[in-house]
Amino acid sequence: MSLKNQAALDFLHARRSRPAKTLVAPAPRRDELIPLLTAAARSPDHGKLEPWRFIVIEQGAMKRLADLTETCGKALGKSPEDIARARSQFDMGHLAVAVIEVQKPSDKIPAIEQTYSAGAVCLALLNAALAAGWGANWLSGWQSHDRSFCTQGLGLADSEKIAGFIHIATEGNAPPERPRPDVTALTRWVSE
Ligand SMILES: Cc1cc2nc3c(=O)[nH]c(=O)nc-3n(C[C@H](O)[C@H](O)[C@H](O)COP(=O)(O)O)c2cc1C
Repeated sequence: MSLKNQAALDFLHARRSRPAKTLVAPAPRRDELIPLLTAAARSPDHGKLEPWRFIVIEQGAMKRLADLTETCGKALGKSPEDIARARSQFDMGHLAVAVIEVQKPSDKIPAIEQTYSAGAVCLALLNAALAAGWGANWLSGWQSHDRSFCTQGLGLADSEKIAGFIHIATEGNAPPERPRPDVTALTRWVSE
């Protein structure tokens, strides 16, 4: 029998991201990050394919990735504003975990389900970080979908994609709560 966990339920009802630009040092140390990655890896995964892995982007790598974002943005013809906005997550970043979707060959498990599992890992990592008392934010940016950035920046193989950058550091100024969906309007009950 499952035991009710009211604290977990309360957390899920109140949780919210903290915008990456509001995060301040310190970021979690490696020994503090491992339990968060462990929690994230405990995510639904049809067929036990483990279609994901982690790349931890530490402070020392941020400038290289910011500069690479600029190089890729120029090659793509992005505007200076788009480039500045995209590189800012690394210019201001303290620590980010790139959750990498790793498609595994399978006759049984469709590729889309492996993508969903990688998304689940992103949310689980975000929630683990928030539950541990860190500020955290799931970002992408156009560079996360750019092959040059993926291969040059993080050494990804062709079968790999960036599911998200989960920025984790200390919470600065808490932003106001954002409007939340009307669950009743989104829900249809089917009873026959
Ligand atoms: C796949 C994905 C990519 C996202 N990328 C960005 C992004 O690049 N920039 C941004 O400002 N927000 C982005 N967001 C939204 C932020 O995570 C946002 O802070 C979040 O929706 C706040 O929701 P919460 O408080 O319910 O966690 C992204 C969200 C998802 C799911």
